[in-house]
Amino acid sequence: MSQIQEKTEIVRIERLTDDVIRITIDAPEIAMSALPGQFVMIRMGNSSDPLLRRPFSISQTSNAGHIQILFKVVGRGTRYLAHCREGEYISVLGPLGQGFKIDMEKTSCLIGGGMGIAPLLFLGKRIRQKGLKVDPIVILGARTRAELLPLLTDFEQLDLKVHAATDDGSLGHHGLVTDVFKTIDPGPDCMTYVCGPKMMMAAVHLYCKKMEYSCQVSVETAMACGMGACLGCIVPAASGGYVHACSDGPVFDAEEIVWEI
Ligand SMILES: Cc1cc2nc3c(=O)[nH]c(=O)nc-3n(C[C@H](O)[C@H](O)[C@H](O)COP(=O)(O)OP(=O)(O)OC[C@H]3O[C@@H](n4cnc5c(N)ncnc54)[C@H](O)[C@@H]3O)c2cc1C
Ligand code: FES
Repeated sequence: MSQIQEKTEIVRIERLTDDVIRITIDAPEIAMSALPGQFVMIRMGNSSDPLLRRPFSISQTSNAGHIQILFKVVGRGTRYLAHCREGEYISVLGPLGQGFKIDMEKTSCLIGGGMGIAPLLFLGKRIRQKGLKVDPIVILGARTRAELLPLLTDFEQLDLKVHAATDDGSLGHHGLVTDVFKTIDPGPDCMTYVCGPKMMMAAVHLYCKKMEYSCQVSVETAMACGMGACLGCIVPAASGGYVHACSDGPVFDAEEIVWEI
């Protein structure tokens, strides 16, 4: 699959909370070919500091040729991005990696935590477009109501019912997404698509194993090149050796990788 490097215009910036921001970028070629679960590498400015591009999941694409990125400010790169303005141009490389493999035969269960919710919106939209017979089950978790509420609206616009969980109990279940998952019976033919903190994904994977559900996870690692050219993102493989999170993933069958927690 070919990757495109586009000099893209930021067309919209939405500050969802103090540190969570959604940007809409005009990137027609990337929007046209992107698949749910794939990501882009964004260059942070023209200077060499920070030197490396940063990876972000594609959260939505539109027919107008836009892509959306949802991110939390955690360090220098994301702080730079947070200070960009509408009309500014940034360099975006993508779409990169292997996305989710949608299983049309199974009940879809989308489970996201924090910024891991980002790629699940794109996935939910694609599943809706494919018109699966059974409605997908969506379980989303975040620290607080303020962080989760703006994201729920996006899913509700797709007519997807969301089960919410927050760490502080300010919206939905007070606790973990796995607590909610355990109360739902998706039937034996369940394909779970998960993205979020490592501990959460590991817990979902273990539960899926017990229940004999299939499970795909989107792995987050540090990434330097994003294209399989360095060893920055390697993850131990269950079959021995290593896989590259950037080019073999970031989405893997949960059984393919070793869970070091
Ligand atoms: C495939 C992929 C998709 C991603 N999608 C998103 C997304 O949609 N939205 C989003 O907000 N973030 C996403 N991330 C994480 C994002 O890339 C990092 O938050 C970003 O690179 C941090 O850059 P920085 O320069 O701001 O922070 P840095 O200065 O590089 O680091 C600041 C702090 O954040 C920690 N940190 C850095 N990267 C990560 C990470 N991947 N996970 C946890 N902690 C980290 C560092 O350990 C450090 O403590 C994704 C990562 C990958 C690999
Ligand atoms: S980030 Fe360089 S090989 Fe994956």
